[in-house]
Amino acid sequence: MTRRVLITGGASGIGAAAVVRFQEDGCRVAALDVDESMLAQCAADVKVVCDVSDDASVASAVEQAVAELGGLDVVVTAAGVASRGSVVECTPKEFGRVMSINVRGVYLTCRATIPHLRTTGGGAIVVVASQLGMVAVPDAAAYCASKGAAVNLTRAMALDHAGEGIRVNCVCPGPTDTPLVERFFAESGDAAGTRKAFEDAGVIGRLIEPAEIAEAIAYLASERAKATVGTALVVDAGYTTR
Ligand SMILES: NC(=O)c1ccc[n+]([C@@H]2O[C@H](COP(=O)([O-])OP(=O)(O)OC[C@H]3O[C@@H](n4cnc5c(N)ncnc54)[C@H](O)[C@@H]3O)[C@@H](O)[C@H]2O)c1
Repeated sequence: MTRRVLITGGASGIGAAAVVRFQEDGCRVAALDVDESMLAQCAADVKVVCDVSDDASVASAVEQAVAELGGLDVVVTAAGVASRGSVVECTPKEFGRVMSINVRGVYLTCRATIPHLRTTGGGAIVVVASQLGMVAVPDAAAYCASKGAAVNLTRAMALDHAGEGIRVNCVCPGPTDTPLVERFFAESGDAAGTRKAFEDAGVIGRLIEPAEIAEAIAYLASERAKATVGTALVVDAGYTTR
C-alpha cells in the first residue's frame, strides 16, 4: 500500500531531500513549509504553506495535507532554523524564535498528526534533531538547547505512543550541505574558512549530502526499523566520535 508522508520544512535542504527519497519508495508526500516560493518549486505531491511555530497554522495545514493525502502513515519534522551566539549575545527574542520553531514546532506538528496516525492504526515519526542535540559547540547556545530538547522530546513521545503502534525516533545530522549551513557560513564573516572548519570537523573530509540524511530518515520510518524506538541515529561523518 502507498504510504502517505508529511514533511515539515520539505521545501529545502534535508526536508526536500526526504521528499524525493520517500517518492523513490513509492510514497505520496506532503511538504509543509513557511517559504511559499521554495515550496512552489519542490517535488512534493501536496504543498501547504505552514508556520510550524503557530498553533492555528499547523492545525489547518495538517488537516489540509492529510485530507489531500487521504490519510497519514509517516511524519518527518525537518523545519528548523540555526542561530549564533552565547546566552549573553542571544537576545530573549532570538532565543524564543529558535525554541518556537525547533522545539515548539516539533511539539505542534506531532500533536496535530498523532491523531491521524492513530486513525491509520500506527505509523512512524522521525524528528530531525542535530549532532548538537548530543554535544555542544561554542557560540550556538539557543540552537544547542533547542536540539537537546528535540532529542529528549523524541524519547518522551516514543514512550507515550509506542503502545499505539507509533514509533518515534530522531536523526542527528552533522554538518550537511544545505542553504541553512550556507547562510551560517556567510554570516560568520569568513565563509570559506568556516566551511573548511566544518568539513574538517568530521572524518570524511566533506560536508554530508542532504540525500545521506534522507536515507537515514527513510530507514527509521520504514518497517526495516520496526524494533527501533526512541533512538537518536547520529549521521555526522564522525563529528561526535572525536
Ligand atoms: N544542515 C545542517 O548541517 C544540519 C545539521 C543538523 C541538523 N540540521 C537540522 O535539519 C533541519 C533541516 O535543516 P536544513 O539544513 O535542511 O535547512 P534549510 O534551511 O535548507 O531547510 C529548512 C526548512 O525549514 C523551513 N522553515 C523554517 N522555519 C519554518 C517555520 N517556522 N515553519 C515552517 N517551515 C519553516 C525553511 O523554510 C526551510 O525550507 C533543521 O531542523 C536543522 O536544524 C541541519
